[in-house]
Amino acid sequence: MDWGMKNRISRIIKPASGRTVMLAVDHGYFMGPTTGLEQLGRAVGPLLPYADTLMLTRGALRYFIDPAVDIPITLRVSGGTSILNKQLLHEGSVCSIEEAIRLNASCVAFSILVGAEYERDTILEFTRVVDQARSFGIPALCVTAVGRDMVRDARYMALASRLGAELGADIIKTYFVDGFEKVTETCPVPVVIAGGKKIPEQDALQMAHDAIAAGAAGVDMGRNIFQSENPVAMIQAVRAVVHDNASADEACNLYQSLKVEVSARA
Ligand code: 5RP
Repeated sequence: MDWGMKNRISRIIKPASGRTVMLAVDHGYFMGPTTGLEQLGRAVGPLLPYADTLMLTRGALRYFIDPAVDIPITLRVSGGTSILNKQLLHEGSVCSIEEAIRLNASCVAFSILVGAEYERDTILEFTRVVDQARSFGIPALCVTAVGRDMVRDARYMALASRLGAELGADIIKTYFVDGFEKVTETCPVPVVIAGGKKIPEQDALQMAHDAIAAGAAGVDMGRNIFQSENPVAMIQAVRAVVHDNASADEACNLYQSLKVEVSARA
């Protein structure tokens, strides 16, 4: 792995902890104006100091984010179907590697749909993106997105994650399930978890804690942060779990106290 690739990865997965808090706000490419991201720039601004990287589309970056920001960008480069399409996440490239370089991306993100009837399309296109990104020293994050009718168990997640890594991914993003050790122990690259649909803050912090305990390198969380009652407090509580090994209870207490503090400042 060349110097540039290592440097880009170390800006995302912090060497001090070997972990990362990725803030995912790329939902618009298939969900449109997701609750909490109607005004993406306003929602994301206060969270940036606490995120290790911002995951979003080229359009969101261009139209909502100030180019003066000091945060590594993880650019969503796959797409092609919306939530209105029954073949959700039948994705291909929607952003060239030249565009990713132009936007100073530190990482590119692409979803594969392992087990879907069209898995081959997504997998072959992913490997083309890996080849292009790697030729410029840019790491590729493989989102092993779970299709509507996939069984969410450790066996499936381990298969999808290992497949993504063997095809060249530098980071895997998948979903937390019981027995998650099976996923991290058999995957040769760092694994981060998506947060999934909004759940109570305590449960989201417990999930983050359990994922870290099972060997995850962090989270790539979106809705459970920006749809939280207090996103600024929530992302800091997530950081405590990921980077400071806080327990779920400690993080929840931190969330509650920060909520008061952040609200008082508002
Ligand atoms: C969809 C994605 C999204 O980035 C991810 O699902 C959003 O994060 P969260 O689930 O935590 O809202 O990868 O394929």
